[in-house]
Amino acid sequence: MAVTYSIPRGTYDILPDKSFIWQYVQGLFRETAAEFGYSEIVTPIFENADLFERSVGDTSDIVEKEMYKFHDKKDRVFALRPEGTAPVVRSYVENSMHTLGGIQRLYYMGPMFRYDRPQKGRYRQFYQYGVEAIGSNHPYIDAEVIALQYTFLKKLGLKNIQLEINSLGNKASTDSYNKALAEYYAPHADKLCYDCSIRLEKNPRRLLDCKVPTCKELVAEAPVMLDYLDEECRTHFESVQTYLKGMGVEYTINPRIVRGLDYYTHTAFEFLNNYLGSQNAVGGGGRYNSLVEQIGGKDAPGIGFAGGFERLLLSLEEENLFMGNSFHPDVYVAVLGEESLLKAVHLMQQLRLKGIKVEYDPDKNSMKAQMKAADKAHATYALIVGENEINSGLYVLKTLTEGKQESLSLEDIITRLGR
Ligand code: HAM
Repeated sequence: MAVTYSIPRGTYDILPDKSFIWQYVQGLFRETAAEFGYSEIVTPIFENADLFERSVGDTSDIVEKEMYKFHDKKDRVFALRPEGTAPVVRSYVENSMHTLGGIQRLYYMGPMFRYDRPQKGRYRQFYQYGVEAIGSNHPYIDAEVIALQYTFLKKLGLKNIQLEINSLGNKASTDSYNKALAEYYAPHADKLCYDCSIRLEKNPRRLLDCKVPTCKELVAEAPVMLDYLDEECRTHFESVQTYLKGMGVEYTINPRIVRGLDYYTHTAFEFLNNYLGSQNAVGGGGRYNSLVEQIGGKDAPGIGFAGGFERLLLSLEEENLFMGNSFHPDVYVAVLGEESLLKAVHLMQQLRLKGIKVEYDPDKNSMKAQMKAADKAHATYALIVGENEINSGLYVLKTLTEGKQESLSLEDIITRLGR
């Protein structure tokens, strides 16, 4: 009996009719990152599970519920990466990148894995683009990182995206804020969901991110972090805003942003597209000034962001923004007669070596069928190779839109079309 397979739940194939959009968006991200002076870093798709437990945090949903953890043949515990920051910081530490001096400006792209309930804009394997800037606590760097993501989204032409920023403070501010939260929640402890009762013990800030309706009601009146920032944190946050204004980056302050990962300190931000429904976070990030040390490195401040390509594509679709072009050959070769094929393959190879995109279908024989196929492929030109052309060394090059045709030598064709 024939066996059929289907793709795992929460994953998808990128088919050729969409892959050119992916290439375009990825290319634009690379370009934008380069304009800001960021270089690519590539890390493995799996890491020690402990790396994420320690950094993303064991009270985060990502670590608690969503990690694809597995034992290898030697019983080591690994995890498919749920995010890119911890691996980049691991690499920064392992490769002693602090010795390179200055700020390490890094960008990455690739698949991430979270075992969540799939829905529109939420997948189990999804693709992130992101950056990390490690080695400076200057508020300009916060603004630079935010501006990079902002610029990328603007270049795509997206209009319905809002940037929201907040500050999560340093350790001292967080301690006094956690105390205030604990006091606020103490009389309501019996109304909290099970997860939140644990969060109250382990990491009160995470209470603000709960989606359970009874917990959400309590969040409305809860104290906000911004009121507990100390002088240093407040000044830092104000300077970030001054630089953002200087750059013309539009934002609003949302004191309820907490982010779903535990490593954040100081600036936190999110890019939202409210037309996308519940999965409205197109991207987000923030500062993580203790993470490098937490992962075993020499103390170094860092900040970064990540965004999901899928939500970006949904936003582009939503705003009717079409970009790039699917694959179209420059030249469709029509071969007349079996004997002409040997000469045609030589010609095709010469054209391809000059960067000309060539298509030929050996299963179509008649002139009519081949010209029809050339139209269907949206080729710019048809090149006719028959006995007469081979004997004269002049080949018919026909523009498919206007139907104009000329007889040209191979050299002239290359001069005309070569890159
Ligand atoms: P995050 O907010 O967990 O942050 O993820 C960033 C973005 O990835 C989200 O805003 C969303 O666009 C996309 N995303 C997350 N989960 C899914 C999913 N299941 N399906 C589709 N898209 C998803 C981070 O990952 C941090 N590492 C960002 C960062 C970098 N912070 C500092 N540096």
